[in-house]
Amino acid sequence: MVQDLGGELDLDGMRRVYGTPGHRLFYLLVCRRARHWGWTEPGQSKWRCWRAQRRLEDVLGRKLALPPGSRVLDAGCGSGVVARRLAARRGLRVTGVDLLDFHVREARRLSARAALEDRTTFAWGDFHELEYADGSFDGVYSMETLCHAHDPARALAEFHRLLRPGGRLVLLGPVAVPRAEMPDRQRELLEPFMDAMALPGARQYTTRTLGALVTGAGFRLEEELDATAHYLPTTEALYAYFRLPYAALRRFGATERWLGLRSTVEMYELRRHVAWMVHTAVKDG
Ligand SMILES: C[S@@+](CC[C@H](N)C(=O)[O-])C[C@H]1O[C@@H](n2cnc3c(N)ncnc32)[C@H](O)[C@@H]1O
Repeated sequence: MVQDLGGELDLDGMRRVYGTPGHRLFYLLVCRRARHWGWTEPGQSKWRCWRAQRRLEDVLGRKLALPPGSRVLDAGCGSGVVARRLAARRGLRVTGVDLLDFHVREARRLSARAALEDRTTFAWGDFHELEYADGSFDGVYSMETLCHAHDPARALAEFHRLLRPGGRLVLLGPVAVPRAEMPDRQRELLEPFMDAMALPGARQYTTRTLGALVTGAGFRLEEELDATAHYLPTTEALYAYFRLPYAALRRFGATERWLGLRSTVEMYELRRHVAWMVHTAVKDG
């Protein structure tokens, strides 16, 4: 059944997705606390997923293309893995916001442990509406988070407000092709997957429309990159690791508690109908 979110924040849904012990264990053991996919170049091994995740974070850093000391907003920071990579590698000063208090606590703890508290700060916040002043940031990024927005256009407008003139935006993540172009079987897989993973944003844009959503919020689109070929190897590796364990869970009907496993298998099954996109945009002065 399609969930009617009524255009409102679904905090309970987000807690259900990220708070279940099975999902948290998955992110801890498999993803080393990063909650995103990876990037693989031709000739690179796909089996060490954490390396692909670090490479994706470095791609983000290159797309942001900001000098050390720049102020950057991480919209939906999770446990702050991406923020710490950008702070350590590129000298950025990153402010991470997240809806989930346990993610914010984890991000703070891990930054203290990594001695990166001077360059990373984390706060509870909803990226549709934040308390920072206009023009507070030189850069904003969303690493696989806009898909959770109940109102992606409003979130993008908020990112635009928060950037100074000349500031840069990078959005990364999976985007479905228009539903009309999907075979029935994949469409039937996608809709319950979106419900289970609380992805109302991903329902509201497609590979054809996300660019227009970005320009509609006032940005100039610098690049719209279909990076599917770089993301697919991680999808394939995770599918190879978890196909059989997930099939066993499915027999016992325990899949709701193991959403991490579910997403590795179902994203693979949807791979020909979901593109991984990187949008880079500028707020012109
Ligand atoms: C797929 S995870 C990505 C986390 C992080 N960017 C990473 O790559 O590790 C999505 C994150 O977005 C957060 N999130 C979802 N909706 C949000 C909102 N409206 N405001 C702030 N954070 C949000 C979730 O709590 C979750 O931590």
